[in-house]
This record gives sequence, structure tokens and C-alpha cells, in this order.
Amino acid sequence: MSIIQENISLKPYNTFGLEAKARFFTEINEIAELKNILQNTDYQNVEKLFLGGGSNILLTKDFEGLVIKINLKGIKSVFEDDSQIHLQAGAGENWHEFVMYCVENNLAGIENLSLIPGTVGAAPMQNIGAYGVEIKDVFVELEALNLESFEVEKFKLDDCKFGYRESVFKHENKGKYVITAVTFRLNKVPTFKVSYGDIQKTLEEMGVKTLTIKAVSEAVIKIRKSKLPDPAEIGNSGSFFKNPEIPKTQYDELKTKFDNIPSYPINESTVKVPAGWLIEQASWKGFRDGQIGVHARQALVLVNYGGGNGNDIKTLSAKVQASVLEKFGIKLHVEVNFI
Ligand code: EPU
Repeated sequence: MSIIQENISLKPYNTFGLEAKARFFTEINEIAELKNILQNTDYQNVEKLFLGGGSNILLTKDFEGLVIKINLKGIKSVFEDDSQIHLQAGAGENWHEFVMYCVENNLAGIENLSLIPGTVGAAPMQNIGAYGVEIKDVFVELEALNLESFEVEKFKLDDCKFGYRESVFKHENKGKYVITAVTFRLNKVPTFKVSYGDIQKTLEEMGVKTLTIKAVSEAVIKIRKSKLPDPAEIGNSGSFFKNPEIPKTQYDELKTKFDNIPSYPINESTVKVPAGWLIEQASWKGFRDGQIGVHARQALVLVNYGGGNGNDIKTLSAKVQASVLEKFGIKLHVEVNFI
């Protein structure tokens, strides 16, 4: 039976390190415990917030409902042949530790996703991605508890409708399921993806002659550490905004004014523009107001230097959006969930 605590500080449970209280708080280690709590009549009409690693939320106020921290653990093989293995991981497994488990066991496919904060269960929500790999590339299926029927259901790749930082769980299934386990396809023989960003350059700097899963993981970790603040030191939730996708016609027009505007083609009529570049050009990079600001090495990341306030970060994000809209005519969409 899980214990339900009252008036608990959520500061240790969000990577922004923001202070906010939960009226009720509990941690669950088993699906049965989760079902029990959800069916407990005392809490039936109480609003619920399911927490993984708390790496994608911005707490703007105390939460008057019940916070349920998902601690479902375990990694097991559910299929194996000569070339691949399917690993099922509990939703509460730490994402980076799961990546390290794969790297140590010479299993390829997610080494480019090293050092992303958060949990396995949160990863499919927004189809986490970095350095040319998204989890949809290695995804087999997931299990999720239906919050109406209290039955565990399976979702295959197509059911999840993955897109860039998108899934069915952010749209039509929002608030309807809790992800309990995810199965990934890992390859015994690696196919490396090292053309993205600075990976190749970093591997050379590291003196790597023969590519290995571990070397690629280490290169990614090195790059991330050089640009992104460690939440243990400076509160943040990674990219605060998504990189906007704009019509190619709009991009071509912007290019006549901003000669060096970077872009990644999506298809013939759409391009993606790095939000970090837009925010930097709008003069926000390194901006600091008291205890909050825009990270000095990656403008896409808003930070809490300690003791900052979630509402101030929300206000700052709106100011950043307004100035990017004014300067470039591009609306930035927030990636983080406001609570
Ligand atoms: N850039 C700037 N100024 C900045 C930041 C970036 O000009 O302050 C430019 C860079 O010079 C580069 C381009 O923007 O030309 C892209 O920068 P970077 O490679 O750092 O990646 P990103 O597009 O800013 C995305 C993800 C990251 C992921 C990296 C690497 C999103 C919203 N973010 O950032 O994901 O680690 O690519 O693949 O797509 C996260 O989601 O929390 C996250 C960190």
C-alpha cells in the first residue's frame, strides 16, 4: 500500500528546482498500487498529476490535487534473435541509466539519446529526440493504464502517432492514460548516426579511431555537457520551446533579410528553423533577471539559478515569444507543460 503524504514540497521532483507544494503526494512501485489509488473513493474527485522525472514541467503554483510519482522499475528482455533484442523497461526507470545499461551491454540504437533527463515512461509522450535519433526509431510498443477502465492497454508504433516532439498522448489521449512500460528494439550490430551536429568533430577531438557504441555515447555526453546546463546545478527543463516549422516561402523571404538563418528541410514546402538561433538573434541569450534567465550557451533553455519563481519564467517565456514573433513573424511553441 502506498502512503499518501500531505503538503509535500515538489522542489526535489522537478528539474527546474521550483518550489511548489502538492496537497497530496504518493509514489507507486507497482501497477496494483496505482490502480488502488485511482480507485480509492477518497481521492476520486481530486485532480491528479502523474510525475516521471519532472523534467518537462514548469510549476507556476501549488498543486491542489494528488501528485503520483511513477516509480515502476525493471528492465527485461522480451524478444531476442541474432540481430536484435527487445528490452521492456518500467516507466519509472531513469532514461539515461537505461541508455547506459544498453551501452554497457553493447546494444545499439539509443546511444545518441544519452544524458537526456527524465524517465522511460515520459520519453514516448513527446517522442524525445537528439542528434538525429528519436525514440520512434527504436520503439516497439508501450503499455499504458487506461484511466477510465483501469485496464492495461498496448500501443504499437502506429497507435502512438509520433511526430517531432509529439504523440497521441499529448493530443487525443491526453490525460486518459498513464504509461507503465515501454519496449525498445536494440541492435546487436550497430548502425551509427554521427553526421548530425558536432558528433563527428567531437569524436575526432576525442581521438576515436574506431566507432563504438560507447564512444558515440561519450561524444554526445560531451556535447550536451558543453551546451546544456546540468539540472543538478542550474534548474532547467532542456529545450523550453520546439524548433518551429515554417513554410519554405516564409523562410526564403526571411533569408533575404537574415542571410545566415539556419534551417533543416522537412519536405519540399516546409523547413525547420532552430529556435535557439531565433532567440539569440532577438538578443535574449544570456539574459538574466534576478534568479531566472536564458542560458548563456543555449538560448533555447530557460533557467532557474535557484529560488526563482515559475510564474516569472512563464512571463519571461511570453516575452521571448513576443520578440521572436515581432522580429521574424514566427510563433514559438512551448515544449514544457505549465502546471
Ligand atoms: N543555435 C544558436 N544559438 C543558440 C542555440 C542554438 O544559434 O543559442 C543554433 C546552433 O548554432 C545550431 C542550431 O541552432 O545551428 C541548432 O542547435 P543545437 O544543435 O544545439 O540544437 P537545437 O535545435 O537547439 C535540438 C533539440 C535538443 C537536442 C538538440 C540536439 C529541440 C526543441 N531541441 O536543439 O533537445 O538535444 O537538438 O539534437 O528540438 C530538449 O528537447 O530538451 C533538447 C535539449
